[in-house]
This record gives sequence, structure tokens and C-alpha cells, in this order.
Amino acid sequence: MSAANWCENAVFYEVLVRTFQDSNGDGVGDFEGLESRLDYLQWLGVDCLWLPPFFASPLDDGGYDVADFLSTHPDFGSGEQLSHLLDAAHARGMRVIADLPLNHTSIAHQWWREELEALRAIDAGTLDAADFTPRYVWSTTGEEYADARVIFEDTETSNWTFEPSVGRFYWHRFFSHQPDLNYDNPAVQEDMLDVLRFWLRKGLDGFRLDAVPYLYERHGTNGENLPETHAYLARVRAMVDEEFPGCMLIAEANQWPRDVVDYFGSEEAPECHMCFHFPLMPRIFLSFARGEASSIDRILTDTPQLPAGAVWGTFLRNHDELTLEMVDDVERADLYARYAPEPRMRANVGIRRRLLPLLGSAEAVECAVAMLLSMPGAPFLYYGDEIGMADDIWLVDRDGVRTPMQWDGSTNAGFSPQSSYPPVLSTVPNVQAALADPASLLHAHRRLITQRKAVFDASDDWCIVACTKVFAFERAGVLCAFNVTAEPQSVTVSGIEVCLPGYGYAWVPLVDRVLPHLVGQRFYGGSADSSAVRIVRAESWQFGGVWLTVESAGALYRTLVDATGRDLLAQYAADGGGDDAAGAEVGMDVVGYVRALLAERGHTLVGDVRAQRVGGEQSNTSFIVGSWVVKFQRRLSEGVNPEVLVADALADCPHAAHVVAHDEGACVATVVPLVDDARDGWELALERGLVGDDSGEGVDVAGLGAAIARVHATLDEGHVQRREDLLDCLRERMIRTGTQAGLGDASKTGLLEVLANAGAGADQVPVQHVHGDLHLGQVLWDSSRWVLIDFEGEPAATPAERAAEHSPMKDLAGMIRSFDYATQVRARENAASDSTPANAGASADAGVVEQATQALLDGYRQAGGTVDKALLQAYLLDKALYEYDYELHYRPDFRYIPARALRALGIATPE
Ligand code: NOJ
Repeated sequence: MSAANWCENAVFYEVLVRTFQDSNGDGVGDFEGLESRLDYLQWLGVDCLWLPPFFASPLDDGGYDVADFLSTHPDFGSGEQLSHLLDAAHARGMRVIADLPLNHTSIAHQWWREELEALRAIDAGTLDAADFTPRYVWSTTGEEYADARVIFEDTETSNWTFEPSVGRFYWHRFFSHQPDLNYDNPAVQEDMLDVLRFWLRKGLDGFRLDAVPYLYERHGTNGENLPETHAYLARVRAMVDEEFPGCMLIAEANQWPRDVVDYFGSEEAPECHMCFHFPLMPRIFLSFARGEASSIDRILTDTPQLPAGAVWGTFLRNHDELTLEMVDDVERADLYARYAPEPRMRANVGIRRRLLPLLGSAEAVECAVAMLLSMPGAPFLYYGDEIGMADDIWLVDRDGVRTPMQWDGSTNAGFSPQSSYPPVLSTVPNVQAALADPASLLHAHRRLITQRKAVFDASDDWCIVACTKVFAFERAGVLCAFNVTAEPQSVTVSGIEVCLPGYGYAWVPLVDRVLPHLVGQRFYGGSADSSAVRIVRAESWQFGGVWLTVESAGALYRTLVDATGRDLLAQYAADGGGDDAAGAEVGMDVVGYVRALLAERGHTLVGDVRAQRVGGEQSNTSFIVGSWVVKFQRRLSEGVNPEVLVADALADCPHAAHVVAHDEGACVATVVPLVDDARDGWELALERGLVGDDSGEGVDVAGLGAAIARVHATLDEGHVQRREDLLDCLRERMIRTGTQAGLGDASKTGLLEVLANAGAGADQVPVQHVHGDLHLGQVLWDSSRWVLIDFEGEPAATPAERAAEHSPMKDLAGMIRSFDYATQVRARENAASDSTPANAGASADAGVVEQATQALLDGYRQAGGTVDKALLQAYLLDKALYEYDYELHYRPDFRYIPARALRALGIATPE
């Protein structure tokens, strides 16, 4: 493995020293300015900076016209200041590579002046031509190498230019002020090797080798990729490996992958560690232009396997025109039509525009950047694109995409107090504002980079699974899907229904990544075996993360995940909510979500609020957000949410928290008002005891009974049901639960007896919507009243059961069972905190539950409720059985509580 393997998965960031930050107020960016912005780049997640040429230069080609390879441009700063910048970057774990234009110099270079002098001396007869080996490439006719294409066709008509002072033509593949060096001259070869040495010694970590295909010229060829060029690059690499191990080389060769792979060299004669994949880039744009991604697939099919350790450099934009050399005429026409309708937007064979103006929206940019960051290869970002900077097509050459970085809203966007060239375009967008907005494109970049680092390795292969309106591939156990159209798309890929908004994308972790985070969550009752678990649906959530619907053993579970597969709501729970790292990484914005949901129903969320996790994790995960509670459903059931069903009826009841907003979209959630300064009944019962005693002041159980009666009265629509039918339903359910919980036949006979006793009483019994899962954790006390919350029914019940009408005794039974739990748990906690041996294993006073039950029923009756004792008994049994089955599966340590209750009702349980 190469010592420079750090580059294989690094995130690169191209930054022009000249236009990033001016530190001395002269209107030109400089090394010190860049150094002062390293913290920002580190925050963003950049691993390596790529600096276009910073050498002495007339800057007629952005510094690629070098006047002196061994000195820095004075406006950018001194060599010492560069060293300081490199040290500062290294101290932050960041590397720095620079551009090296090997192929040519500026006519301002001393070599050029000396060359002209020498030629004149030869012509004057004062120098013997035999003693002179030219450093540049000359012709007396300007007709050689006619097969070499002109690259800068906007400005140049030929690769030869006549130099009148010497009466000869000189060769240049780019601007005519940039004569090509003559690599047939050994001095050129050696001098350029020394240039590399000079800067690597200063601390650079490598080079982008500019325009490498063109180093040599040979008759009858197009002057590209010649064997001599490869041989020289192999020498460069050998020198770097030997003298500067760990430093990297990347080839800039704008060609087809089958030709570019040669720039990696061979095992015996390696050349570059990395090469840019030029043809991929326009095809990403083409996909967005055409709304279908088949061209990406085609170019990847044409991309050969890389040798081990070699890696593609991938990019969307850089300091040049968006080159369209590597597409066919039809594709080019489509790209021009979509992205460069004005002639002024075009430059050479390409388009001089920045990423945001090209793609047209922050959503599309984020989608394209996500694509880039998840594909194999090392991604290169271009400064300013992360905040969505615009361009100026009226500036010359490609200067319109090289304008100064916009830092803030102050003069010249904080780049410099002076005006500059290229000029600052605008103060909008700017980094400062983007930092303050978690929903900004800048934050999206950071989140994507962080996620990329958490899941994708250089060695991860990929497998493309869709290439139509949605481009999708699997890589590293993640299904990456990108909607290249403006319309929402829902497609089934890898067996998962993936739902994406227009230009939406999702990194969907597959089962093996998700399952370890699901198993152990209280809401998850499915299998731990990945072959028995299926991801049914993945919906990208605009408030961060992806909602997965996971199926196991016939039940559907909901988990909000990032690419690693962890459950983000659970992370929130673990970290106390609001600003935890996991949520921030994916931009999870529970507050923003609640705000939007409430706004749809005409409610507002006031003030600067945070989301705070509440309650135990069960079938829902809830947060308090301002004066509201949002509940995310973790188990999915069909039909109307029972809580939504009763919302209108409860709207004016002071004893019930009713749903004011609900969402059946990607995220299934409800919002209810928060009961101010309230504590739940469970907490109070544990702290104070249910009935007043020496260690506590008790809880207003009678008041609770009255509140339940009032809620029941509110929901009562006067319906009745035959007692027998109701008991039939209960019977069926109890037998089912009993079997599930492993009860023997004798116990089942016991069940039937209790039910038979419940048959005594009126033929018709009242039924209505009830709470359905009432217990102390579902009632809040605000020091003056009780409020019932969560009208959703039992989490494990079928949707039909939850939506059905029941006897109000069901709620009373639920509450009485939780009195038993609270009393047992309190005794257990007291015993644990009491170190006296006599108290160890203390059991709860059964009288407490009886007293509390009595008080509850009295309160219920006094507020107008009717208690059907026989039915209550049946529901108590039903509830205890349900609890027993639940504990068996989720909390075996607590099984003894319902087991005791069942025994008291005459039902034996297996131990
Ligand atoms: C490639 C560079 O990226 C471009 O900016 C420059 O104009 C040419 N090389 C010629 O130096």
C-alpha cells in the first residue's frame, strides 16, 4: 500500500489564495488570510486543501502562467508565510497540495527571456547551435503536430505562435503567452523535478500535476499520452516515493477513463496516486438536465478497474469552465441548452458558471453533492459552492467563477477592505449567515461530509441498482438514492420503496446497519436475525434523516436513521435532546418540524424553544417543544390513529390532552398541548406513595377517578353492546394472549371462570371510545387537576381493537393495575435504598392498592360514573394477562408483578 493512502478517502477543497481572504488590506487574498480561515475549513470537514498556483506570475492565466517556479507571488505572501500556513494546516490534521503547471511557463519566465536571447545569438552567429538545447518547442514553419487539437479555442486559433524577435514559431497547448516546455531537454526534466523537491521540502503534501498529457510532442500523433510522458511521470513518482514518502500526485488529464488509467502507471512503474475522472462530471449535470441518469451508468461501464490503491478524484466544479470535451455532440447540445442558454455563459468547450446557478436550487446542489460524496473516489469541492455563491459571466476568461469568498455582510463581504480583482460579487450569500442557519447549504455540506466519513471507505465497492429518474446504488451497506428530477419520485429499489421529494436524496442504511440499533429499543418487538427483518419503505424527511418502515414478524416499526443506521430519536433521548451531535449531523430539526405542523393548523410555536425528550421509550417517542408535546409513532398500524379519532370530541374537556395537529406523511406523529408544570401520576406515586403514609403525602386518587369519569362522559355517545358479545371478544383475546404467554390448560379454564362470573349483570352494557391504555404514566397532575394524555389504545393491540368502542371499565382496570405496579416498584426502590437487612426484600403493602382502588372508584362514581364490578374484574384479568405477556418478552425481571395479580385472580402462571 502506498504511503500516501491518506488521500484515498480524503475530502479535498480547492481554494484560490488570491480570492479567499485578504489579511493585509491590499485587495488580494494571501497566505495569512487563508490561514485565518482554517478553522472554518476544519469545521466543514475538509481533509486536504488544493491550492492553484501561488508562484510568481503575471496572473494572465490565474497563475498557471508561471514566471518563477521557486518563488511565491509577492501579493500572496512570502515563503515563510506559506510555511506558516502549512504548519497551521498540519496542526489541524489537514493536508495541502498545490498545482504544478509542468507543461509550460509564462513568457515572463526568465527561461523564456534566456531562450529568446540564445536564439538571437545563434542567428547572429555568436552562439553555436550545437551548444544549445532549447527549453521550449520551436518550428520554422508552424506546421508540425497538426493532429494536436486547440484547447483554448475561444482565444487561440493554432498551437503555434510566431515570435517575431526570433523569426520562429513556438508551441503552446494553451494560451500563446504560455509556451510549452521542451521535455526532450534533460535540463527541463531535472529542473522540474527540483521544483517539486523545493516545495515538498517546504511541507506541501503533494501536487496536482496540471495538463500532464501534453508534456511531449511527436510527429504523427495528437501529442497526448505519449510513452515519453508516462516515462517522465514515473520518474517523478519514483522521486516522490523515495524522497517524500506520503506525498501524493494527482493527474489532470481531461480524457476518457481508458486513457486516463495509464496515468496511474503500473505496479513496476507507478505514476499518479489519483486521477480526476473528467467524463463523470458532465454526466452528473446531464442527468439533472434530462431528468434521468442513464449516462452515468454508461460512463461507469466504460471506466476500467483501477489498480489497487489507485483512486479517482471526483468533482462537480472547479476554477475552470465546466468542460464539455468528454461528451458527444448531442449531449453537449443538451448541456448547453439547459445550463448555458446565453453565449456569454460558455467558455472554450464548456460553461463558465458556478454550481448553484447551474443547478438552480439549493436542493439540487445538495442532491448532486450527496451523490459526489457517496460515490467511490475522493471528492473535490470548490470554494464558495458550499454557500451557493453566484458567478459573473461578464468577467473575462473564467474569472466569473473565481470571485472572492463571501464571508459576511460587511464591506466587500469581509474579504478585504479594498476593492479587488476579481471583484466581490455580493454579500449574499455569506458564510456568517449560513453558519447561523442550520438549514443552510453550508450546514448540509458539513453534515454530508461527516456522514460520508462515518460510513464510506475507499475500498468500498458499489453496485448501481437504478439509473432512471432516480439514480441509486448500494455501497457499504447503504442504499444511496438520488432523484434527478424536480418532481417527487417513489421507486422500489433493492426491495425498498424509496420516496424522495423533487431533487431529494436519501442515504438509506440497509438491514445489517439498522438492526443492531433497533434490537434493544423498547418499541421494537421484531427479530434480531437480519434475514427475518425487511426494510419496507424509506422516506427522506425534510427535517433530517430518513424514516424507515421496518417489517418483522408481521409488525411494522418506524425508525428515523442517518446513514450509519442509528436511530436518531433514540440518540436524542440519550443525549437529553435539542442539540445532540447525532441529530446535528443529519440536521434533525424536531422544533422546525413541530413549528411547521402547528402552522398548518393555525397554531404558532413562540420563542426560542428546544426539543426535550419526555417519557419512557415505548410505542412512541415524545418530545416537549415549547408548550406542545410531539409524539412520533414507532409502531405503525393501519386505519385512523385512535387519538386523532377522539380529538374533536375532547377539544373542550379540561381533563384530556387532545391532538391539535397530526401528520400521516413520512413521519407519523401527533402534537398535543403540554400541560404546564405538570408531573405524571407514575412519578408522583413513586415519590409520595398512592395513599398518604409516613414516607409520603399520597396522591389525589379520588380526584383522578373523577377526572376519568368526566372524560368518559365527554366521549360517551350513548352506545350499548350486548354483555355477551363484549365478553366473547374479551375471551377470544385472553385465550390468544394466554397461549402466547405459555399458560397451561388449567389456567385457561380459570380465565373462563372469571369471565363467566362477569356475565352477571344487565344484558346491555354501555360502550364508547375510551382511553384504551390508561395507567399512571398517562395522567398528568398540575397541582389542581388531572389530565389524561395519549388516547391511542394499547400499543400492541390490533388497529381494529384500538379504534373499537369498549366498556369504560377497561380504563379503570388499566389504572388499578398500574396502582399495583407503582406500589411494587416503590417497595422495590425503597428496599434497594434502605440498607437495613430487615428491610431487604420488603414487599408492598397490599392494602395500599386496595385503598387506592376504593378511592378511585368512589371518585369515579361521585363524578357520575357507573362501575360494573363484574366487568371490571374481567378487564383486570385481561390487563394482567397482557402485562404478563409483555413482561415475558421485554422485561422478564418484572414478570412477577402481573404473575402475582393473576394468582390473586386464581390463574397460575408458569415460572
Ligand atoms: C489547467 C488549468 O486548470 C487551467 O486553469 C489552465 O488555464 C490550464 N491548465 C492552462 O494552464
